Amino acid sequence: MAEADRYYVTTPIYYVNDAPHVGHAYTTLACDALARFMRLDGRKVHFLTGTDEHGQKVEKSAKAAGMDPKAFTDKVSQNFRDLAKAMNFSNDDFIRTTEERHIKSCQEIWKRLKDRGEIYLGSYAGWYAVRDEAYYGEDELTTAPNGKKIAPSGAEVEWVEEPSYFFKLSEWGDKLLKFYEDNPLFLAPESRRNEVISFVKSGLRDLSVSRTTFNWGVPVPDDPAHVMYVWLDALTNYITAVGFPDESAPLYRQFWPADLHMVGKDIVRFHTIYWPAFLMAAGLQPPRRVFAHGWWTNEGQKMSKSLGNALEPHAMVAKYGLDQVRYFLLREIPFGNDGDFSHRSMVQRINSDLANGLGNLAQRSLSMINKNCGEQVPQPGPLTDADRALLASAHGLLAKLRPLMAEQAFHRALEAIWHVIGEGDRYIDEQAPWTLKKTDPARMATVLYVVVETVRHLAILLQPVMPHSTAKMLDQLAVPAGARSFAALGEGGALKPGTKLPKPEGVFPRYVEEAAQ
Ligand code: MSP
Repeated sequence: MAEADRYYVTTPIYYVNDAPHVGHAYTTLACDALARFMRLDGRKVHFLTGTDEHGQKVEKSAKAAGMDPKAFTDKVSQNFRDLAKAMNFSNDDFIRTTEERHIKSCQEIWKRLKDRGEIYLGSYAGWYAVRDEAYYGEDELTTAPNGKKIAPSGAEVEWVEEPSYFFKLSEWGDKLLKFYEDNPLFLAPESRRNEVISFVKSGLRDLSVSRTTFNWGVPVPDDPAHVMYVWLDALTNYITAVGFPDESAPLYRQFWPADLHMVGKDIVRFHTIYWPAFLMAAGLQPPRRVFAHGWWTNEGQKMSKSLGNALEPHAMVAKYGLDQVRYFLLREIPFGNDGDFSHRSMVQRINSDLANGLGNLAQRSLSMINKNCGEQVPQPGPLTDADRALLASAHGLLAKLRPLMAEQAFHRALEAIWHVIGEGDRYIDEQAPWTLKKTDPARMATVLYVVVETVRHLAILLQPVMPHSTAKMLDQLAVPAGARSFAALGEGGALKPGTKLPKPEGVFPRYVEEAAQ
C-alpha cells in the first residue's frame, strides 16, 4: 500500500487512576475526527487508544480504593471504554498495558536496548513525582511554603534512592537535534518544538528506566527485582498495538511508523525526547509527528479533583448533545492553545453556528422542497453565475480542508466550512426562493437544488466532527450509505433530480435555558 494511503493515529493511553474528564475526551476526539476524515478520504486507518495501567500512581490509587491493582485497573479501564462509546469514537483497537501482548513487547524492546549497550545497571538517587511519573533534577524544583519540593508541573516530588537501570539518554542529544532538524514536521505547534529543542540543547542526563521499590509493572527481563519505568512501558504501547515484536506482522509493516501521536502539552518531553531516543536506540523508526494540544479550564478555573469542578463528558453530552459537544471542543479554540469552557460560549455555538447556521440552511431549503417540489430533489434549470459560484465554493472545500487537517488545524477547517454556510445563507437571501415560488417556479427549483447540493457537501465534510447529526442530514437528502465518502463530492455524486425525499426534521435544536423552559 502506498505511503499516502495509510494513516496511523494514536491517543496517549490514559492513567486508570481516575474517572475520565473532558480533557481525556478532548485528546481522543481530535484523533477520532482525524481518523474519520482520513477514512472518508480513502485512506486505510488504524486508530489506537487505551489505558496506562502500571506504575506507582496507579498502584497507590488501587490501594486507596482498597482494591488489588488488577481488579482496580479492570474497573477503571472500563470507564474509558464506556467513554469511547458515549463519545462515538471510532478507534480500531483499545490497548491495556496489562495485556500479555504488551508485556511481551516491552520485554523485547528492553532486550534490544540492553543488547545494544544502551542500558546499564546503576543506582538512582534523586527526585521523583508520582503524579507525573517523572524524574526531576534539583535545578528544576521550587520549594512550597510548607517546605515541600515542587516540580514545574506543580506535582510534589519525593526523594528516591534505589538500584536502577539507566538508559544512556545523554548520548542521544545530538542525534535528536539532527532528527528534529531533518524532520521539521515532527513536532507541532512551533512553540513546543522550540521548547523541546532548547531543553535538549541544555544537555540530557541518563534516564532511570527501572524501579525496585514497588512491583506493579512489567518485570525487567533477567532481573525480576526491577520493574520497567512506567513511561518506557507506556510509550511502547504504540508499537505493541501494531504487532511488535513481530516486525513482519501485517499491521506493523503497514502502519509503523505512526503518522501522528496526539498528546497534551504536559507530556511532550516523553513523546519527543524519550520515545524517539528509545526507538532509534533499539534500531526502530521514530514516529512521523507529535502534536501537543492545550488544556481546558472550566469557567476560568483549572479542573481538579479537590475543586470538584472536572467537566464530566457524559454529563456534558446529556446536557448539550453529543455532536454539539464534539463540535464545540474542536471549534472553540485554535487547536494547540489552551481553552476555557463556559456554558455561555457553548450555548452560543449551539444556537448561532449549529441551529441558526448549518441547521437553518438545511431546514429552510428542505422544507420548501417538501412543500413546493413534490417532496423530491428539484430539477435544476440553466445555472447562473451566482449558482455556479456557490457550487464552486462547495466543490472546492475538500482541497482546502486536506492541508488544514494534515496540520491538525480543526478550528480553521471548521471556519472554512462555516464560510461556505455563510455564502449559502447570503445566496438564499438574495435569490429569495419564497418570492420565486410565485413568479418563476422553475428558477425556484434551480435555487433550491443549488442549496441542497451545497448542504450535501457540508454534511459529507462534517461527518468527521459530527457523525451522528450529519448522518441524519444525509438521510434527509436521501444520500445512499455508499455515497457518503469524499469520493462522492463534486458533480459525480450530485443529487439526482426526482429522488424522493423524506419529511424534513430539524437536526440542530436551539439550546433553551432550563429556567426559561
Ligand atoms: N498515561 C499518560 C500518557 C501515556 S502515553 C504513552 C498520561 N495519562 S493522563 O491520563 O494523565 O493524561 C492523558 C491525556 O489527557 C494527556 O494528553 C493530557 O494532556 C490530557 N489532559 C488531561 N487533562 C487535561 C485538560 N484539562 N485539558 C486537556 N487535556 C488534558 O499522561
